[in-house]
Amino acid sequence: MKVISVANQKGGCGKTTMAVNIAAALARMGSKTLLVDLDPQAHATYALGYTLESAGRKTSYDIFRAHFDSVDPPFEEMTMVSKERDNFGFVPANMMLSTAEINLGGVNGAASVLDRFLSNGYFEDYDYAIIDSPPSFGFLTLNAMYASDTILVPIDLSYFSFNGISNVYRVTSLLNSETGRDPSIYFVMNIYDGRSNFARQIEIDAQQKLGPYMLSTKIRSSVRIREAAKFGRTIFEHDPKSFAALDFYNVTSEIVNTGVREMDVVVKEFCLDAPQAGEVYVLGDFNGWQKAENNRLARLETGEWGGHFTLNKGQYRYKFLVDDTWVADPSNPACEKNIFGTADSILTA
Ligand SMILES: Nc1ncnc2c1ncn2[C@@H]1O[C@H](COP(=O)(O)OP(=O)(O)OP(=O)(O)O)[C@@H](O)[C@H]1O
Ligand SMILES: [Mg+2]
Repeated sequence: MKVISVANQKGGCGKTTMAVNIAAALARMGSKTLLVDLDPQAHATYALGYTLESAGRKTSYDIFRAHFDSVDPPFEEMTMVSKERDNFGFVPANMMLSTAEINLGGVNGAASVLDRFLSNGYFEDYDYAIIDSPPSFGFLTLNAMYASDTILVPIDLSYFSFNGISNVYRVTSLLNSETGRDPSIYFVMNIYDGRSNFARQIEIDAQQKLGPYMLSTKIRSSVRIREAAKFGRTIFEHDPKSFAALDFYNVTSEIVNTGVREMDVVVKEFCLDAPQAGEVYVLGDFNGWQKAENNRLARLETGEWGGHFTLNKGQYRYKFLVDDTWVADPSNPACEKNIFGTADSILTA
């Protein structure tokens, strides 16, 4: 399992928004994904529409509590899965988490508790874990960083967010010297408004400062993102046709392609111009030709239909299903005859 934590000491720069929507994008692209809310503010928990008033619900606090009590964490009780959210496991948080540091701060091995939790066989069929961390570099964020292969740092346009950047580097070099862990760090511009000169100037500064570690996708400022969080939905549930949903697909593709080259996984974008269509699926060897919700393309504002899928490297046959009519991909010259005597498109990932 590849672990990605979203961290920045600066409050309100978009950590929770990114953690929730990148996890949702990965799940929709077909990767089994676990999202862990590691912030006592529990914003990710609310952003997914959960309120944890009911006493006794197991939360991420129990990861640390179990370590303190030297017992196994209650994996099943704390991992929420819902029928509506395919491939998506979620460990919620509540305020209790803020006491984890008080109880455990000085205990031996305290920084690696989350790492050991995620390495347990219970999660062996998960492809990704995404960790939402609080706006500080305390005990919880250190646990997230220790467990991570990749740290994703959202940056908004304020000066403090840049201050947050040098702090990330300081903390990770400390992490490296103390523990030998060496996660890769990528930065993502969030709440970006390309119409403002100030935003463009900050972008140039960030590119100069961060070079290839700044992802080229920017998450634009979108009221849809605020609405989605308010209604307890991911952006894909709230408005899958919005540019915000597209930004999150794109940033997720970039992360997957940047961070897991060694895993032989690629993200493939499918696109079909079919403005009159009512629904379009992409079906092929890679998804078992199953007409399922996950394989449906989203109608973009341009009238095209698009979607992204994470595929293992290899060769696949596929076709679009446009309102129950099979259509080979017109943008792909590679095709082969199938057993029905028509042409399948051929994709080499
Ligand atoms: N691209 C965006 N466009 C518009 N609003 C956004 C965007 N990204 C985040 N927001 C909004 O900004 C606010 C702060 O975002 P979020 O809660 O994700 O930040 P955070 O870094 O997790 O905050 P904290 O440090 O408190 O945990 C939220 O209201 C969220 O809906
Ligand atoms: Mg947050």
